[in-house]
Amino acid sequence: MSTHKQETDLCWLRYSLIDEASLIETYRTWCQEIVTYTISEVFQTAAHELHGGISALLGVAPVHSEKPTKSHAILLGVKDQTTALDHLLDTERVASIQEDGYLIQSVKASEGNYLVLIGGSDKGVLYAVFELLRRLQCGESLGQLSISQNPSNMLRMMNQWDNMDGSIERGYAGRSIFFEDNAIIKDHTLIREYARLLASVGLNTISINNVNVHRQETMLITEAFLPEVAQIAAVFRSYGITLFLSVNYASTMEIGGLTTADPLDNDVILWWEEKAAEIYQHIPDFGGFLVKADSEFRPGPFTYGRDHADGANMLANALWPHGGLVIWRCFVYNCLQDWRDRSTDRARAAYDHFTPLDGKFKDNVILQIKNGPMDFQVREPVSPLLGGLRSTNQILELQVTQEYTGQQKHVCFLVPQWKEVIDFDTYAQGEGSTTADIASGALFGRAHGGFAAVSNIGDDWNWTGHVLAQANLYGYGRLAWNPNLTAEAIAEEWIKMTFSRRPEVVATLSDMMLRSWSIYEKYTAPLGVGWMVNPGHHYGPNVDGYEYAKWGTYHFADCHGIGVDRTVKSGTGYTAQYHEPQATRYESLAECPDELLLFFHHVPYTHRLKSGKTVIQHVYDTHFEGVDEAAGLVTAWTSLQDYIDERRYAQVLQRLQNQAEHAKEWRDVINTYFSRKSGILDELGRTIY
Ligand code: GCU
Repeated sequence: MSTHKQETDLCWLRYSLIDEASLIETYRTWCQEIVTYTISEVFQTAAHELHGGISALLGVAPVHSEKPTKSHAILLGVKDQTTALDHLLDTERVASIQEDGYLIQSVKASEGNYLVLIGGSDKGVLYAVFELLRRLQCGESLGQLSISQNPSNMLRMMNQWDNMDGSIERGYAGRSIFFEDNAIIKDHTLIREYARLLASVGLNTISINNVNVHRQETMLITEAFLPEVAQIAAVFRSYGITLFLSVNYASTMEIGGLTTADPLDNDVILWWEEKAAEIYQHIPDFGGFLVKADSEFRPGPFTYGRDHADGANMLANALWPHGGLVIWRCFVYNCLQDWRDRSTDRARAAYDHFTPLDGKFKDNVILQIKNGPMDFQVREPVSPLLGGLRSTNQILELQVTQEYTGQQKHVCFLVPQWKEVIDFDTYAQGEGSTTADIASGALFGRAHGGFAAVSNIGDDWNWTGHVLAQANLYGYGRLAWNPNLTAEAIAEEWIKMTFSRRPEVVATLSDMMLRSWSIYEKYTAPLGVGWMVNPGHHYGPNVDGYEYAKWGTYHFADCHGIGVDRTVKSGTGYTAQYHEPQATRYESLAECPDELLLFFHHVPYTHRLKSGKTVIQHVYDTHFEGVDEAAGLVTAWTSLQDYIDERRYAQVLQRLQNQAEHAKEWRDVINTYFSRKSGILDELGRTIY
């Protein structure tokens, strides 16, 4: 571990010394002194981060004082605890700051020039500090700063899929930083560094173990592990992050000595009440439980003829006296489907299971809904369950780990994909009912809401396997804080903080990142059909890999055509799960957007897209283009060699070269498959095998 620690990359918190002479002089003037007006653990973290960040960026350590003594100073305080600062600020603006929010204001007063950072709480101060440091890293001027921010989402959560044996489900960046050999790792160095990374982008909640809770992880809520879990909670607490655990729905049977997990059984109810009390003795601010039930062979209330509201509410009752939450996943579908059965449609499942329960969940239950109806494919429509529930707390689930998007061997900047999801208009309450407003709870006035995402980190030196995949972790946090940020803005600030402010680096790298999802989509499964991957590990092309499987994941390609008919008119009726006008848009072959055509319709290869191309020619063209563009990423990256340190340059270069090669494999497998199936030749006569 210790050698590993020295090597660990600091990602966007590297704080390299600023090298522009004029900039550094102005910054040094402004940042001579840090004045603090309150004390608490998180507040101290904030002051410490500010001190460390400034010292590294400017090469000079600021002094700490209890009141300003110099011409310029940074003043840190918490709203309502800083009367000394009241006269410097607009009271209305201060009043508008919520708990996690903050105000950063540059003030020229008779006594001196101040950068005032006021948080709605000590957490708000921490976020303000990271915002100020981000501005410095991005080279922005400080004289006119006037920023006031409240996060759009109350819950900004990270889900680790870490197992206690040290493996990570769908992890592509090494082993767990939390667990090894069925135990909790005692050295918390990496956990602390991770907490910093998460807090720096505004994330405030984490569940540390896999949603698939096996035998060993079931024990995390017992005396055998709770003292150590409490230590991890303490590390996160100092960065304003609340800890959750994924729990096994059948814990009463696995570790409780009961013969049932029936949510209406009195012994079960009592067991969970006592268990909750025990957990809160160890971790007074424990966040609650994340639960995957009746999903992919995990136990759940269905076994007892109960529904998901019964199951979730039973756990919620146990946590209620302690202020805990149940986050209950909606990834519930029949994973033992018969491929011959065309009447069952996996895409319908979450909506069909959960909309009848709308309004039946307790106030401390939140349903966690994946962005799409299937499973984090390269392209899916937005899940109609987001918009299908009005009286239930919801949280949007995204996948930062690149399970179906290149597994961090390929570069795929996912922020543009997430932007499409969160900007999508569900029309749940008329025009302008975006996914973002449903997830935050704003649209239906819900008490709880937010974003959750599956993490992409492990103990690799660069955290994420591919250095450029750090941007997905960064971008996820930024969007969870403010879904209105653009992909362009997020890419730009991440590049400036992580690599360089040089215009050629920013321009070249943002172009690479912003196109990377589209490039990946081009050489993989076409037009929203998905699932053309190798079963099990999900890496690499295999057109029929899931075609005759039990997972409900089909494309139905034959010699005439391809795609899944999900229309009301002739298919599974899935399109009716959307509100109008989205339902009609997807139902109509003419109106359905090209990129989702095969998700909603089964069409002949000769069907003409809105682009004017036939489906088959589109498949050929995009696959040739995707390969060319993947090769272009290598060329673009090599143009940056002089500006990037050797270790990161070489790592990315090697991955991009492998990606370019692997893209050819994808192209040739997909093109060959469809040329053989359809018997239609490429109009341009390119090589297809
Ligand atoms: C996907 C993934 C699984 C995971 C599941 C989930 O199906 O492949 O590994 O357990 O999602 O979200 O629960």
